[in-house]
Parts: sequence; structure tokens; C-alpha cells
Amino acid sequence: MVLREQSVSPPAAVERESALGGAASGTFPPGFLWGAATAAYQIEGAVAEDGRRPSIWDTFSHTPGTIANGDTGDTACDHYHRYPEDVALMGEAGLGAYRFSIAWPRIQPEGRGPAEQRGLDFYRRLVDSLVEAGIKPVATLYHWDLPQALEDEGGWSNRETAERFGEYARIVTEALADGVAMWTTLNEPWCSAFLGYGSGVHAPGRTDPAAALSAAHHLNLAHGRGVAAIRAATAAPVTVSLNLHEVNALTQSAADLDAARRIDAVGNRIFSGPMLDGRYPQDLLADTRHIVDWERLVRPGDEEAIGAPIDVLGINYYTPTLVSAPESVGTAAAAGFEPAVTHGVSAHSPWPGSESVVHYQPAGEVTDSGWAIDPRGLYRLLTTVHERYPSMPLMVTENGAAYPDGPDESGAVQDVRRIAYLQSHLGAIGDALADGVDVRGYFLWTLLDNFEWAYGYSKRFGLVHVDYATQRRTPKASLGWYARFARENTR
Ligand code: NOJ
Repeated sequence: MVLREQSVSPPAAVERESALGGAASGTFPPGFLWGAATAAYQIEGAVAEDGRRPSIWDTFSHTPGTIANGDTGDTACDHYHRYPEDVALMGEAGLGAYRFSIAWPRIQPEGRGPAEQRGLDFYRRLVDSLVEAGIKPVATLYHWDLPQALEDEGGWSNRETAERFGEYARIVTEALADGVAMWTTLNEPWCSAFLGYGSGVHAPGRTDPAAALSAAHHLNLAHGRGVAAIRAATAAPVTVSLNLHEVNALTQSAADLDAARRIDAVGNRIFSGPMLDGRYPQDLLADTRHIVDWERLVRPGDEEAIGAPIDVLGINYYTPTLVSAPESVGTAAAAGFEPAVTHGVSAHSPWPGSESVVHYQPAGEVTDSGWAIDPRGLYRLLTTVHERYPSMPLMVTENGAAYPDGPDESGAVQDVRRIAYLQSHLGAIGDALADGVDVRGYFLWTLLDNFEWAYGYSKRFGLVHVDYATQRRTPKASLGWYARFARENTR
């Protein structure tokens, strides 16, 4: 689906097309959602309040050696207590939408059973204050914080977790149906499955390729159960946020193209296939047959449930992916490409079914996360997905960049590199819109500097700077720039 048969030139020769693209063209349609995104564990803190019990991220972050500097989400941005200030910041800037996630362990502290009313009340207060500020609430049901009690029974590698998710989704959607403008089932199930159960760099930290593939299927099934729960409770649009990999083959050789196909299969189509086509891709099943028994894993009716129609496809994009077959490593080295870590997965660690594929650092400037900046990758991704699913509206549910900027002597945060990143990526979306791609919204990652998973607080993606010692918020220059861009470029 996403794979494009395209070779990548040596770094020095890589020509980026106009970085600004359609930024000045004012082509964003009326009703386009302009927002910022966050996730519960990354901002809320208050991990033991109002009945909340540990999630896999509490356990993982408290395990020595897992997170940079030994950071945890115990306090994070203290958003649980400071949400009125955070909503006010968005309201003052004039953002139209806010994408946040609901912490399952606040709603069902042990992953099953009756709802914890105090947890639901928190999200009710948040949703009401957003609505009051004229900001559309976009709620994600699962952004990685699985109740630890369910992990103790196998977590996402256990089919039962998908059924428990369906029950949780029913509780939440019934409680908040009248306020939430759009519902997202899962955020980046690829990360949950492959970083959580494959490479182990995310919670729960398991390194078992068979468990990772089972987790992928059970996350898909959870998505299906989630769609059904949302539909039963509300007419609000339903989406899922996938971090689709924009996969490029190093050369046009058959072996390199096949390497890219494998990554497209296990990186993208393992989710988009069942969700959007109602079935798993045959090549994925063949590539991974030696790892899991798909016939046992996928039960009758599963693919139908997973393929229940959604209204909008959410795409999270940060950086392109560049791969080759092992035999191209020499060619790559001659062209200046070295095998590299991508998405926290080492070039040589298994993406199940793609064990022999080599990943490279794509050419060009990088953000503070070391991720190559390539706005044309976003353009290519949007246009390719649109070509494959022409009637599916798309939404960029995450895009953004980490830069370390903090307050200068005058107290201002001049994050000019974030503004440049934003401008070029919004330009790419403008170009896609001009070419007929139906993009309905953009959510910048992220509102506040926050807990960046395995990187802890060392990477700052926010439109608002957070001083973690005092919890002081300082809007960065990018916040004003973004809000103005949205105002001036929407028809
Ligand atoms: C992906 C995730 O959804 C989000 O939680 C994370 O912080 C950003 N991208 C940046 O890595």
C-alpha cells in the first residue's frame, strides 16, 4: 500500500523539492481541524490518584535501565491537576481541536470490572472545559497504557485483552458520547506490538517475535471491538491513528524492492490490510508463517470485525524509512548510508518476517531525536494512501519535531527550527490537498513538552515549554506561529 518503488540517491545528491510547497497557497478547506495532540501517560502524572492503578508504563519506567535518566511518568506535566491552565493555553491560541487519550487504568484500574467513577469524572471535566473553550475534543481510547493486571495475564499477546478493551471502550464511549467530537480506537498499534513485544524498547519490554505478531492481531481485534462500541454509543466519526512507514528502497534492485515490500507488510499492511480491506495481506502471512500459526491466531469472524468501516484514517508521520537487502550494504556504504537504528529498533533486530532487511538513516538534516526531516515523505505518504483508498478521508493525527530550545534571557522560547519543520510539513499537506487528497485535519505533536517514552524528558516536542521543576508553562514562538498559520490559511 504505502511502498513506493523509488530509489534514493546518495545524500549529497538528494534534492529536496520546495520545502515550503503549498504553505502559502491557502488551500486548507473550511472545517479543517487544526489541533495539538497529547497522550495520558506522557502528561497526566497523578499515577496513584482517584483509584488509578499501574499501567505497563508505570512498571516499565520503574524498571532500572529502561528509560533515559531513569525518568518516569509519575508527575509528568501534572496535567491531571493543571488541565484548566492547559486548556486555557489552547483557547487563547485559538486552536480548534485537541487530541488526548484516556488512561484505561483510571477507568478500569485492574483492566476489567465496573468503572471507576472518579476516572470518568476527570475526563468529563476535561471534555466540558474543552467544549466551553470552543475546542473540539478528539479522544483516543488507547495510547499504550495497558492496565498492568492485564499484562500479568499475557497482555496484548493474549486474545482476552481485545475483549477486555471492547468492554472498556463501551464504558468510556457511553459516558462521554455527548461531548467528544471524534473517537480514535488505537494510537500506533505498530509501536504497541513491535516495540512493546518485539524489540522491547517500550513497555512491557518483551522480546518475542511470536508474541509481537499475536499482539498485532489482538490490537487489530481490539480496534474492531472498539469501533463496534463507539458506533453503539454515538454518531461521532471514528478513526484509528496508524504510524504508517513511508518506505523507500535503497535501489531498484529486486532484492531491495523485496526488502521494502517486507517492511511495508509488517510495518503498514499488517494493520491497514485487515482494517481497510478486511483481510490480512497474503505476502505478510507467507513472510511470517515460520513465526506464528495465523490459522490458529485469526478466528472466523475476526477479519470482518476488524474491517468494520471507519470514517477517517489517522496518519502519524515523522520521518521516512529507508531499507535494503543485506547484499546492498556495500553499495549503501559507498553512497554514504550506514545501517542505523530506526523507530528504536536496531538495524539488525527482528521486525518479524523482515529479519534480513537492513535499515538506514535517510539523508538530510535531523531533529533532536535524530530523525531525518523530509516533508516530501509526508506528501508521498498522503498521496499514496489516497491513491490506494480514494474514498477514505485522511487526517494527520501526529507530526512534529523535538528541539531542546528553552527560555532565553527575555523569557521567550524562540524555537525557530520547529517553525521551519511545521511550515514545510504544512506545505506538504497543502500540496497534497491541491492534488486532490482529502485531508481533514492536522494535529501537531505535541501541546506540551512531555514524557517521550524511552527518551524520558530528554526530548522536547511541545508548542509549550514545561519547566519540570516548577511545572511552569511557557508558550514557544511556534504556538503563536501555528495558530496564525491556521487562521490565515483556512478558506
Ligand atoms: C508517536 C506517539 O504516538 C507519541 O506518543 C510520541 O511521543 C510521538 N510519536 C513522538 O515520538
